[in-house]
Amino acid sequence: MILTRSPGLVRDRRQQSRTFRRCLVGAEMVDWLLAIGSANGQVKSRHQATGMWQALLEESIIQHVTHEHPFRDKYIFYRFSIDADTEHSSRSWSRGLPQPEDEREADTKCSEVLGYLAQRAPDAIMRLILRKPSYERTTDDLEMIYDELLSIKALAHLSNSVKRELAGVIVFEAHSTTGTVLFHQGDEGKSWYIILRGSVNVVIRGKGTVTSLYEGDDFGKLALVNDAPRAATIVTREDNSHFLRVDKDDFNRILRDVEANTVRLKEHGQDVLVLEKISGNSNPYSHFKYSVMSGTGPKMLEHLLETRLDGRDKSLTMNQDGEKGSMSSNMECDSFLDDFLLTHIIFMPIHQLLTELTRHCRIESSVQDREFLLACKRRVVQFVHRWVTTIGYPVLEEPISHSFLQELMDEVQKDSVSFNTLYDEVLLMNQVMDIYKTYADERLQAAGQKWKLPPCGQPVSLFGAPMSNGEDYEVPVERRAVMRHDDDIIFRVYCADHTYCTLRFHLSTTAETLKHVAADKLGLKHDDLVLVELKSSGEKIVFNDGDVSVPTSLSINGRIFISLRDHLDALTCLPEQEKSTEGREMDVEMFSTRELAYHLTIFDWSLFRAVHEYELIYKTLGRHNFGKITSNLDVFLRRFNEIQFWVATEICLTNNMSRRVALIRKFLKLAAYCKEYQNINAFFAVVMGLGNSAVTRLTSTWERLPSKSRKVFAEFEALIEPSRNHRAYRMTINKLSPPVIPFMPLLLKDMTFTHEGNKTWTDGLVNFEKMHMFASAMRVLRLCRARPFSLPPPTPRNEIEVRGYIRSLRCIDNQRTLNTLSLKLEPKRA
Ligand code: CMP
Repeated sequence: MILTRSPGLVRDRRQQSRTFRRCLVGAEMVDWLLAIGSANGQVKSRHQATGMWQALLEESIIQHVTHEHPFRDKYIFYRFSIDADTEHSSRSWSRGLPQPEDEREADTKCSEVLGYLAQRAPDAIMRLILRKPSYERTTDDLEMIYDELLSIKALAHLSNSVKRELAGVIVFEAHSTTGTVLFHQGDEGKSWYIILRGSVNVVIRGKGTVTSLYEGDDFGKLALVNDAPRAATIVTREDNSHFLRVDKDDFNRILRDVEANTVRLKEHGQDVLVLEKISGNSNPYSHFKYSVMSGTGPKMLEHLLETRLDGRDKSLTMNQDGEKGSMSSNMECDSFLDDFLLTHIIFMPIHQLLTELTRHCRIESSVQDREFLLACKRRVVQFVHRWVTTIGYPVLEEPISHSFLQELMDEVQKDSVSFNTLYDEVLLMNQVMDIYKTYADERLQAAGQKWKLPPCGQPVSLFGAPMSNGEDYEVPVERRAVMRHDDDIIFRVYCADHTYCTLRFHLSTTAETLKHVAADKLGLKHDDLVLVELKSSGEKIVFNDGDVSVPTSLSINGRIFISLRDHLDALTCLPEQEKSTEGREMDVEMFSTRELAYHLTIFDWSLFRAVHEYELIYKTLGRHNFGKITSNLDVFLRRFNEIQFWVATEICLTNNMSRRVALIRKFLKLAAYCKEYQNINAFFAVVMGLGNSAVTRLTSTWERLPSKSRKVFAEFEALIEPSRNHRAYRMTINKLSPPVIPFMPLLLKDMTFTHEGNKTWTDGLVNFEKMHMFASAMRVLRLCRARPFSLPPPTPRNEIEVRGYIRSLRCIDNQRTLNTLSLKLEPKRA
């Protein structure tokens, strides 16, 4: 139509001494379209006509002569793409002039084509505007963009004022062919994208395409908010894909604080990671904007490695003051890594973690990706270093850990030579291997370690190393042996008729094995036997077949019985269970209270130090689920009960009133010294012992106490008061600096509360918020032990006796017996 009716429209034109063949001028094209379309009302304005030409330009029907411009209603040259090859030829029409039948066909199709273009025009106009730089956008343009943004799913959570701001900066980006890479995994994050048309694949090295994203979806935010490298490569999966793009500076200025609260990452149609925005002020020191709410173990690990560990070469990231780059300095304030290390055993056993770490540093890749692969290795080494230094022996005692560490060490060393880098990582791995060696030497020295649970049930004692009766006089506190899974323990198993057999087994032996061997030894032949703890109160606790560390889990005067399940009710306590344990019958009055408190604290500290954070998890979630012993925690928790019942027992066994008064005063002083030594566990135990009903009911005794002592007791009771979730205690302990021996039963209660109140898995993902809560409780142990116990000892008076005494405190743990004794001391008043 143009050629026959407006032949002047397409012609050769000159500009700046250059000839452009067969071209049209934008403004004239608009005139022409208006002329032919206004008659039947299909083209109403220049604006619309401009959009229609732009639609043709986007479809590559026309093009700007040098491909620089979108369509403009200006003195700018365009040509039909079909004529593009005539640019350098002087031949006339390449296709010849249209024939009359072509003209007729064009007439009949004209209205249809104009209708189609009129439909496409608004979108094309929008894209035209979005391609303009910010400073060229008019008020009308901004209004149009804003209207457009209102209908985009990925922006739905943003306020209108934010959308207005975005209208000024958001830009349009189009990619015409499938397979175009928008950015690569590991690249620095520069923009955030929204898909307007088409779709993309999310590709992760070593995994391939993990998911596809479609119109309305967004991507590329993680790297911007976390200041981390791109977590995936993004590739177009359709021709002509259109995107809206917000560049980093604008994103930070407008969106960083208002972006979506929740981000969900999917792989193969399933959610694999759910992140939630950290509210603005909750952690002013951390730049990590998203915290992990839930995820699969491997994806959380991947996210952790990519966002919380620095893959860069340290020598290049030091700033001028020699400080590390921002990522590392922020690392300390963010607990994700630490939470993961403390809790992964719940959702990702060590062997699986090692497989994932191996995968992460051996991703198949081409040679050009060397930097990416080195970054992966750096992160894995840093992770392993933190893991081994914070978790210690549970990592090292796994046989597969050793081969993994050795291989990683060899690989890093080899790479450091081949690529002239990774020097820091070699140093870190050397430290890891040194730690491993120290661990292996200690294990060798402690091989065959044995413990004994004496018949009368008191403290588990060690043969050959620190003893329970004071022989460990010269052994420094820190070196007290930790109970390990392959240590032997000697103990008794009783029958209903009180006959017994003595067994010697590893601490990690299951209740089921113990049951079979005991049944064999005792000549019991029955299928329905159970192993059970019979407490001095008569309470029975049946062991799970999978339970380990059975002997150390007993209560103070508890005994292990084997019985038919149906005959449990017939079990009766041994006579000795009713009495006090085999503690020393020494007069506690003869010891200096300070010396007593000091050695009590030294002893408690040695028990406390032996407890591993993981034991809190095993205990809370059930040791049978892990097959791991909780012996060190058991012994320490039992210590709390021992002190508590010792205090009540000593008072109830003191017949003389004035000696009883003196004893209560001594225990109050003992509590005060324990508090001064920051042995909060013993402080609680002593005060709770004094608060035992068998003691508090001795009103005549209390009345004889000076009022000052009664006031002190009231103050102490206020400190241990459980109201408002032990607020008084929590406030006190927060003010202390290490070393501190915390009130262990409360830590365990916190763990249990967390466990019972929160699911471990939600929709197939690990509930990481729960892991964070667990880790916060577990971290208390580390904080309390951050400094060694090094208080100067008091002037020794009866040091050896005191040390022996505090190791075997006599105690009655049967409340009924204590009440009976108390009633004898002060009968009920009429
Ligand atoms: P970013 O790390 O900035 O760049 C890659 C983007 O891919 C990432 O942000 C996410 O927005 C997006 N993405 C979508 N699904 C996944 C996934 N399963 N793993 C990683 N990135 C994903």
